[in-house]
Amino acid sequence: MKTSEYSKHIEYWTLDRNITFLNHGSFGATPLKIMAKQNYYRELMENEPVDFFVNKMPELLNESKGKLAKFIGVDNNDIVFVQNTTTGVNQILTSFPYKSGDEWLVTSHAYGACMNAIKHFAHRNNIVLKIADIPFPVKNDEEILNAIGQMISSKTKLALIDHITSATGMIFPIKEVIDLLHDHGIKVLVDGAHAPGMVDLDIIGLDADIYVGNCHKWMCAPKGSAFMHVKKEFKEFIKPLVISHFNDTDINGDSYWSNQFMWDGTHDFSQYICVGDTIQFMNSLQPGGWKGIMDHNHKLAWQGANLIAQRLNIELPLEEKFIGSMVNIPMPDGEEGFPKFNETSPLKKVLFEKYKIEVPVFFFPSAPTQWLRISAQLYNSLEQYEYLGECLESLK
Ligand SMILES: Cc1ncc(COP(=O)(O)O)c(C=O)c1O
Repeated sequence: MKTSEYSKHIEYWTLDRNITFLNHGSFGATPLKIMAKQNYYRELMENEPVDFFVNKMPELLNESKGKLAKFIGVDNNDIVFVQNTTTGVNQILTSFPYKSGDEWLVTSHAYGACMNAIKHFAHRNNIVLKIADIPFPVKNDEEILNAIGQMISSKTKLALIDHITSATGMIFPIKEVIDLLHDHGIKVLVDGAHAPGMVDLDIIGLDADIYVGNCHKWMCAPKGSAFMHVKKEFKEFIKPLVISHFNDTDINGDSYWSNQFMWDGTHDFSQYICVGDTIQFMNSLQPGGWKGIMDHNHKLAWQGANLIAQRLNIELPLEEKFIGSMVNIPMPDGEEGFPKFNETSPLKKVLFEKYKIEVPVFFFPSAPTQWLRISAQLYNSLEQYEYLGECLESLK
């Protein structure tokens, strides 16, 4: 069986040409030019570490954050860099005010690490955690809103809601969910790990109380770059995990809150500094800039998934409106047992070892029901999904 070719955009990435990489969703992939830029910042740091950390770095960081703020349409003083969404979510959960007996809400589609975090903090603080069981496949927004609505009570204070889910690759009707929760006076923490760079993100329009998103997934920034956006009225109690320098800078000014997060001790800040460069560089890769990238990736993912579904004579679980640039494809039941994070299921293993295809397999809601989740990024080609379909057919 022949392997498949990437699109011409592969020239901008260092991805292994011998692997059919259909999993941008898990950890993103950073273009070569941005890797070079990151090395440049690292060299700048090592050429004169003191001048770098004292003079250059704060300015570079602020400039990059400013570009990110513009990209997601928020005030630069209302966002801070964090290493990843997991850290951001933990940061919020550990700061969020509570009293014993409060209720928090999460859905059954929450990402494993964030589900563990909310379970941990709820248990530690004697908060009752309600899990809204959202079906999958889901037919319409009402099914999602009803499942969440059923778990709301007068004691519910905080909800952790995914914007785009991980194991089910689904765009939630996030604005409607936020409005529903707000109608009951519940604060909303959005896990937007996949959203920046996959969908046109309007955090202010969504009215999310707190929004955490990754730059290292669909924006293609270097690993370890993410952000937290916090509405002004919540800044008072959302504090950094690490109390450090700049905790007392501009105390009565607009930058007081974001300053507190800036210096979590000495480390390599180059991935944060690269975020602004990545936004600019990616924008130049496709006619229509970022909008063009999002449209391209959505179309490719949807076309690719439909092509596979037709070939295997199966139905896709979701309507197109729930899809960004990841699509779940139903597979025959897999093994019993539930592979943990980074454990490889037999289907994933055979696709990788026999056919050199990198694509994740998820068990949802639990084993043995399994799904393949394909991703589409500029470097992928339709031919690669044809190849995956061909390989899956040969496994039948
Ligand atoms: C929905 C969701 N939330 C959170 C995360 C965690 O992201 P990170 O590992 O960058 O913290 C992921 C990762 O795939 C995710 O899909």
